Amino acid sequence: MSGFSIDWLDLREAADRRARDKALRDQAIEWLEAGVAPHQNPVVVDLGAGTGSTLRALTSPEQQPLTWRLVDNDAALLDEAERRHGETHRIEPCKADLALLTSLPLEGARLITASALFDLVSEDFLDALATKLKALSQQHPVGLYAALNYDGTTHWTPHHPLDDAVLAAFNQDQRTDKGFGPALGPDSGAVLQRLFTQVGFKVYSASSPWVLDGADQAMVTELITGIAGAVADNPDIEASELEDWVQFRLSNVSTGTCTVGHTDVLALPA
Ligand SMILES: C[S@@+](CC[C@H](N)C(=O)[O-])C[C@H]1O[C@@H](n2cnc3c(N)ncnc32)[C@H](O)[C@@H]1O
Repeated sequence: MSGFSIDWLDLREAADRRARDKALRDQAIEWLEAGVAPHQNPVVVDLGAGTGSTLRALTSPEQQPLTWRLVDNDAALLDEAERRHGETHRIEPCKADLALLTSLPLEGARLITASALFDLVSEDFLDALATKLKALSQQHPVGLYAALNYDGTTHWTPHHPLDDAVLAAFNQDQRTDKGFGPALGPDSGAVLQRLFTQVGFKVYSASSPWVLDGADQAMVTELITGIAGAVADNPDIEASELEDWVQFRLSNVSTGTCTVGHTDVLALPA
């Protein structure tokens, strides 16, 4: 499975859904619906939308109709989102490179959302996004709900002697350029909070870890091979030791556990 394949996004979605902080998600929905005139259709712009997991996480049966502007640079993911939701939601697919922030269609949005995205971006990107949302909010208040920002922590049971070294190497890889300049990786949640506070937003945050066990073994298997692939070229890890770690981890997927830390952030204009 590639990094953002439909299969991988589907595989992780149940764990993502369990992990999202419910109070912060509900607060985001309240913001979305508050202050919108009757018969007006609030617009949500989902950055790095994939197949629409944020739409699914924020949708409830009693909700007023929303317009979902889904932004991604992967046409296959956007097509899949439209196939899944085009008949039940107002979908505006938008194929665009998020790195070109100034050209993104953010106008008129009540809420900007993202999930599992901001650990890929640079501090400069988030700085520009905070400035942009501050400016947009002068005319039309717009909030940001950013879920599942990886925080650099991963705990496995049972323990393996290479766990810490693999995590350190993985976190190094998380900081490499993913198309936006040096990636924030584990710092994304803290940097988001700092930058949006600086431009005057009221910022809320909550922990949102993946808590995985034998019921998630298909996902954990992919996670193990994904981590191994990301650290394979790291000079601090011997290939034979890494192979031993992978075999040990795979042999424990049905009985072991894995907790991966994330932070959810909600930033609302003061
Ligand atoms: C980890 S996935 C998360 C997808 C979705 N938000 C979810 O939680 O299932 C990251 C998403 O960001 C998109 N993405 C990554 N870099 C991008 C870029 N430069 N421009 C637009 N989309 C990008 C990928 O195509 C992918 O859909």
